[in-house]
Amino acid sequence: PPPAMRREDVVRQALGSLHGIPLYKCFIEGWPQVEAFQVRSDDLLIATYPKSGTTWLSEILDMIYHDGDVEKCRRDAIFNRVPFLEMKAPEMQSGVELLEKTPSPRLVKTHLPVQLLPTSFQDKGCKVIYMARNPKDVVVSYYYFYHMAKIHPHPGTLSEFLETFMAGKVAYGSWYEHVRGWWEKKQEKQLLYLFYEDMKKDPRQEVQKILRFLGKEVVEGMVERILHHTSFQEMRKNPAANYETMPITLMDHSLSPFLRKGISGDWKNHFTVAQNERFDQHYREHMAGSDFHFQMEV
Ligand code: A3P
Repeated sequence: PPPAMRREDVVRQALGSLHGIPLYKCFIEGWPQVEAFQVRSDDLLIATYPKSGTTWLSEILDMIYHDGDVEKCRRDAIFNRVPFLEMKAPEMQSGVELLEKTPSPRLVKTHLPVQLLPTSFQDKGCKVIYMARNPKDVVVSYYYFYHMAKIHPHPGTLSEFLETFMAGKVAYGSWYEHVRGWWEKKQEKQLLYLFYEDMKKDPRQEVQKILRFLGKEVVEGMVERILHHTSFQEMRKNPAANYETMPITLMDHSLSPFLRKGISGDWKNHFTVAQNERFDQHYREHMAGSDFHFQMEV
């Protein structure tokens, strides 16, 4: 047999293709297990395009699942508390392996575009919360993430990365297709579609939306504790939420911290006027006919 893959082997590797979607080769290797994944009817799926507030939403949900008990939410790193379905990397437990050991009710994270979601999710009819973020902030956040998370190929200059993103050649493919694909799925009533910008503007209102969606009873002081514990400042210094316990070969926080800025509108500090015009034009073409209103800043 070929020698087992080591962590170093995935560093700066070119992306592969999974049913036409660019993805890390090690994830593609684990795809048969993901496709066969057995959903439980009380699973809750957290679905996002990368860099759209997944970790934030995950921490909020783990807090809700533990009635706002901060200590319980420090029991392990966020990537173990909310396993990442399609994750597979050398020398690490895969998302599916981790999920099989997780007691119900489970929180499950995925970045898969809706058409690649394993069929078991539809069959079991479990609830889904999707969070979308405006593409200008997503691309800037993704650019820094490409630098620090070395499972990605090198991003090149921001200008080059913008082109890669617009062409849908980054990991998980086209942002436009991702947000639109999941939006269409919203017709099926088990899906709550949220926006990062709304969460920034009025986190209390959004948390209450989630609580209603889950039919969760609210205990005294719980919403306050959730809002405090899941603020950017608190999460940034919390080792169970900020990814600092990830092996440095996979994530190097000295290049850019995982919780980087946590604001809306940072793209204005990065895009040139020409890049912004080009991006707007491309956005109009690719979002034509949709009823989305992304807030590009808050
Ligand atoms: P920036 O790079 O713009 O700072 P994901 O978890 O999907 O990978 O998304 C990461 C992005 O969400 C990062 O964006 C990160 O800083 C931001 N984020 C994480 N926790 C947050 C919080 N509590 N409040 C606001 N933004 C948060």
